[in-house]
Amino acid sequence: MAPEPKAGGAAAPSPAGPALLSVRDLAVTFRTRDGEVPAVREVSFDLARGEILGLVGESGSGKSTLLTALMRMLPRNAGITAGHIGFDGTDLLALREDGMRRLRGDRIGLIPQRPMTSLSPTTSVGRQLRWHLDGLDEGRLKELLGGVGLGAVLDRLDSYPFEFSGGQLQRLLIAVAALGKQPDLLLADEPTTTLDATVQAQVLRLLLELRDRVGLTMVFVTHDLGVISQVSDRIGVMYAGRLVEVAPARELFDAPRHPYTRALLEAIPGRHRRGEPLRSIPGTVTGANRLPGCPFAPRCAAVVDRCHEENPEVREVGESLVRCHRAGEDL
Ligand SMILES: Nc1ncnc2c1ncn2[C@@H]1O[C@H](COP(=O)(O)OP(=O)(O)O)[C@@H](O)[C@H]1O
Ligand SMILES: [Mg+2]
Repeated sequence: MAPEPKAGGAAAPSPAGPALLSVRDLAVTFRTRDGEVPAVREVSFDLARGEILGLVGESGSGKSTLLTALMRMLPRNAGITAGHIGFDGTDLLALREDGMRRLRGDRIGLIPQRPMTSLSPTTSVGRQLRWHLDGLDEGRLKELLGGVGLGAVLDRLDSYPFEFSGGQLQRLLIAVAALGKQPDLLLADEPTTTLDATVQAQVLRLLLELRDRVGLTMVFVTHDLGVISQVSDRIGVMYAGRLVEVAPARELFDAPRHPYTRALLEAIPGRHRRGEPLRSIPGTVTGANRLPGCPFAPRCAAVVDRCHEENPEVREVGESLVRCHRAGEDL
């Protein structure tokens, strides 16, 4: 029998201590020429100090929108239409912009998905590093760049962003946001996607080290389940703006509960036996928000009638929180 749905606003309980970040029923909407587009809906989770939450989901599922909403840096045509964000006891949505500005960078850092957009094209990289990191001396600079494998660009810092590769700029931003500022909470949006495998491993190691050394708390977004399994304590799976499953990392891989999570895991090449054809999930996420019922229903292998009529509430199954009518059933 399926377990009872949890009351509204059910959130993934954090495993240890009071939450540093607490998000409840968050909703973000874009105003477009075609009307209002919901990009994030009913998102709730808690994050304990020193915890790393991995966020996965295919492109367009709302991961970047969620992170920029947490920083209150949404584009002009987007707005937070519902919900609550608590950060270390402060109600972030009630904070005035100058208060929010003080938190940004120093206490909450963002590594944005597109590094180019957060660097000025007309100022040398070295100068921008010094803007962002007050009182940066040569020794510290060397340490920061060395930490992200960029020791070799030390003598090129009077060059402009376009003279660096995307991967180098990404690492520069990681050096500033994570190592330079050492915020309490780091929001990292696909920080290693543009990096080659060796550098990616180096950066992941570095972030884990920071977590162990200074208790860095992190939301780590990626569409790569292999990467996320290496860094996350818990993993949240997003689909069409909703968190459809949140579970401890091992639990998610060993016992995925949501049919979408199962489909994602089955699509990882490494999990396949040799010779077996690589599966992909049929259909696309487009338009899922406009349907009644569960947004995943049109693509779901376990769909039943009810899924087309009613959007599932969050249910607790073992240590997982799942938005599926069939959660807990042996599918
Ligand atoms: N500037 C924008 N204007 C209108 N819609 C947007 C804008 N940015 C994102 N969206 C929409 O919001 C949804 C979530 O996008 P995004 O947060 O970028 O997803 P992800 O990071 O998971 O790929 C998508 O449906 C996308 O089309
Ligand atoms: Mg994104």
